[in-house]
This record gives sequence, C-alpha cells and structure tokens, in this order.
Amino acid sequence: MIDLRSDTFTKPLPNMLKAMWAAEVGDDVFGEDPTINALEKKAAALFGMEAAVFCPSGTMTNQIAINVHTRPGQEIICHEYSHVYNYEGGGIAFNSGCQVRPLAGPRGKLEANSVAAALQNPLDMHAATSRLVVLENTTNKGGGACYELSEIDAIKSICDEKGLGLHLDGARLWNALVAKNQKPSDFGSRFDSISICLSKGLGCPVGSLLLGSNEFIREARFVRKKFGGAMRQAGYLAAAGIYALDHHIERLSEDHAKAKTLADTLKSSPWIEKVETVETNILIFNLKADKNIVAFNSALKAEGILHIDMGQGKQRFVTHHDVSFEDIDKVCQVIGDLA
Ligand SMILES: Cc1ncc(COP(=O)(O)O)c(C=O)c1O
Repeated sequence: MIDLRSDTFTKPLPNMLKAMWAAEVGDDVFGEDPTINALEKKAAALFGMEAAVFCPSGTMTNQIAINVHTRPGQEIICHEYSHVYNYEGGGIAFNSGCQVRPLAGPRGKLEANSVAAALQNPLDMHAATSRLVVLENTTNKGGGACYELSEIDAIKSICDEKGLGLHLDGARLWNALVAKNQKPSDFGSRFDSISICLSKGLGCPVGSLLLGSNEFIREARFVRKKFGGAMRQAGYLAAAGIYALDHHIERLSEDHAKAKTLADTLKSSPWIEKVETVETNILIFNLKADKNIVAFNSALKAEGILHIDMGQGKQRFVTHHDVSFEDIDKVCQVIGDLA
C-alpha cells in the first residue's frame, strides 16, 4: 500500500516506540505524570506561551479552546473550508452553543477585509455577538496553504480593536514553520490560543496540545475533564510527542519535496485539469471534465495507491514519512502510464 490519504495514517517509527517504552509515567489527572508535564512545559516554552495542556486529539483541543473563549449564543468567524466548521461533528453548536459565520477566502485562508465586514454590530440586540476568529494553518481543505505573518497581523489588529479572541488550529503548523522558515514564537506572540497536533506529520500515534495563558489553560483543564479527555498514565503518549518535537520537525521538508514531485507529474498528465500550488505536504488537484473519476481512482487503487476524493471534483494526496521517495516514483509512474 502507498497510503496518500492523510498524514494521520503515520505509524510510530522504532526509535519513537523505544522512547515511549522508556517513559516515566504517573496519574495525570493528579498532575503527576512527569512525561506529560515535561511535554507541556517544552511546548509552551517553544511557542513562548505560558502554559499547555495535553489532549487526545486536535478536535478536542479546538473544541476546548472554543468553549473557553465563548459563551452560548455568540458567533465564531472561520473559513468555510475550516476543520472546526466542517469536520468536528457540529461540535461548535453541540459543545459550546455558538453559531458559525463561515467566510470565503483564497485556499482556506481568511482575509482581514472579509473578517472586518463580517463583524456584528455589538449594539444590535438582534445579532449574535462576534466573539472569536479561528484561523487554520496550514489549511487542510485549502491544500496545505500557509499564512504570511503580515496576513495574521492584519486579522489580529481587528480582533484586538474589537475585543475578539484569536485561535489557531495549527494541526499542521509544523509544516508551515518549515516551509516558511517561521518560528513557533511568531505564532505564540500573535494568538490567544493555539492547537498543535503531534499525530499528523510528526508521526505520533495520539496527541495534541492546547497552548495559551496560565489562566486560559487552567480553564481548559476544567473543560478537558468535562469532555472526558483527562487521561491517566498517558506519559507513554507524551514521550512520543517529546521525541517528535526533537526529531521529526526538520524532516517535514522531505514530505514537501515529495508533494512537489507528485505535482510536477500531475501537471503533465492529460488527465488533470488543475493542480493547486504545493506549499507543504498537501496536494489538491482536479481531473478534466471528460475523464472518468472512477477509472482514475480504480487505476491507482489497483496499484495499491490510496488517496482521498474530497468531493466537488477535488482529489487530495498527502505525503508523510510512511511514504518513501521510491513510493512517490511509483505513483508518478502509474499516473504517467494512464492511457
Ligand atoms: C486542520 C485540522 N484540524 C484539526 C484536526 C483534528 O485532529 P484529530 O484528528 O486529532 O481530532 C485535523 C485532522 O485531520 C485537521 O486536519
């Protein structure tokens, strides 16, 4: 199998498993798991933020953040492609009783002018109160696109001026940091809360972290408990996270190179209408209208190549450490051989 469905399919490599096996653990509900404590401290320091809390998933870290930032009946501004809006099971409504104002924008990115135009009048009792802006970096459905810091600054100044919180769904922020040569502290200084995932390109089996101020994370721990996400000897999982932060960030550039190689092949295929610009490890492309999508998918599947059909004609490849450069050559050859 050459599994290009998602970087969430990565399995822990032998050295990560060794680190997990050697972890010192304790009961984290009592704050006594030394490995979780070390991971939370390490991540917070890396981003220059006060505190962090370890959670089972990126969905949970996003949902906890939204819950801490908002009150029921308020409004959250996010991109129409965003994970928090499309792929978290309606969690914003279910967990926090808020409504969403989804906005369009290039490649899954919000633009400051459309955020400003979407703000509700705080003096109008008919309107929900605009409370939080959520950005996603890199964008998933937007094809792995990255924000420029200046684009974030323009949105942040609106949030600061109007008293809105700014949350980052940084499930794949690591890919953006490597691709754009940015620092974690560039983000820690700009956002009120950040969710980062360890279980995508970094290759951990489980785990995400929510970062914020001491007060924000203290409240987040209460919400994590209510959501059933407070774990016991989860230091075995945190050990994988520490290993990944130390060893798996720089190598993400290899995944980006693999995605670019795939894009070059797709661009020269008579089957393909459009290939979106590759910035990181996600590649979105469309087939020509006269080509049969079922035939395309079957041809890849017959060679053991898996990918995702995102609907509306969009196909997605995601590269990661469990797909080698040789695997990529094989995919290129299969696409090149399509009649
Ligand atoms: C952009 C983005 N945010 C959040 C998540 C949620 O992460 P998890 O699967 O750990 O809940 C994902 C998962 O793929 C994602 O792509």
